[in-house]
Amino acid sequence: MALREAAGNTVRETLANSMAQETSRDIGPVVLLGPPGAGKGTQAKRIMDRYQVPQVSTGDLLRQNIAQGTEVGCAVKAVMARGELASDDLVCEMVRQRLRQPDCEQGYVLDGFPRTEAQAEWLDAFLENTVFENSHPENSHPEQSHRFSSKENPSSKSHPRVTRAWPIVIRLDVDYNQLLLRITGRRSCPTCGRIYNVHFQPPAFDEVCDVDGSKLVTRNDDRLEVIQPRITAYQEQTGPVADYYQRSGRLIAINGDQPMDVVTEEIFRILEGHRTENSVIEDQRA
Ligand code: AP5
Repeated sequence: MALREAAGNTVRETLANSMAQETSRDIGPVVLLGPPGAGKGTQAKRIMDRYQVPQVSTGDLLRQNIAQGTEVGCAVKAVMARGELASDDLVCEMVRQRLRQPDCEQGYVLDGFPRTEAQAEWLDAFLENTVFENSHPENSHPEQSHRFSSKENPSSKSHPRVTRAWPIVIRLDVDYNQLLLRITGRRSCPTCGRIYNVHFQPPAFDEVCDVDGSKLVTRNDDRLEVIQPRITAYQEQTGPVADYYQRSGRLIAINGDQPMDVVTEEIFRILEGHRTENSVIEDQRA
């Protein structure tokens, strides 16, 4: 038994090492779905590190707005403190602005978005005008390959193949009691954003960030009385998002109850498979 575990660990370490050595890949948009505390933020950061694409967390963007006292922040502060969702219009506009930033050209991980069916439809409409140009490495400079660009403004001839940028949607399923432990135990660093958990992933020194020594904080909406409304909002408003992607065969559900590294391995495998199987549309313009 111990031997089998040791062998399993070796395989995992080897896989993790070989994965860590790889660089930016053409994964396109990735959507992480899952209830509060499922591990979306934790896994988004790992995808970001491995594939060199940004994490776009609507929760983080809204919290930044609150901290900066912007108009958006003022509009959502009370709503978030109650564990309810911000309005679709406000969130979609915020995401639209974020996805237009140059660092999103090679793909991104959407963490906490879409959260309603209306947001999912908005995202599909947004992506309708986006193609993922998958240029052949031998024909172009590596730093210029795998870039998104608007269909209306194609840089056609040098890019022989084009992939439509539909997102790959991964849902993390986690048991209710495990969610409660994860949320109540969560601490995060206000400086670098690293996430800890007093039960599962504690810092080396109590309440202090391992990376920069900042005092760790508890999120305002991680209070017990707000957790249930957040989970209810997820079930009622985000449940239909999973159905929406399921109907078009784009939903992949994985067991998020597993240890973090095992969940990460599964996600990387899915993304690697998606990368190779992704339907490629022959460029009509070539
Ligand atoms: P948001 O910030 O998105 O929060 P959430 O969806 O409730 O998700 P969490 O951040 O709580 O959890 P997570 O899944 O990221 O888990 P984490 O990795 O931290 O949204 C907050 C609010 O903003 C919403 O309530 C809403 O008001 C508003 N909002 C946001 N987006 C919106 C939108 N699109 N539309 C409208 N309103 C929106 O992990 C949790 C803990 O568990 C950590 O301590 C971690 O260390 C630990 N952990 C993670 N994985 C594991 C594992 N496998 N095993 C053990 N422990 C683990």
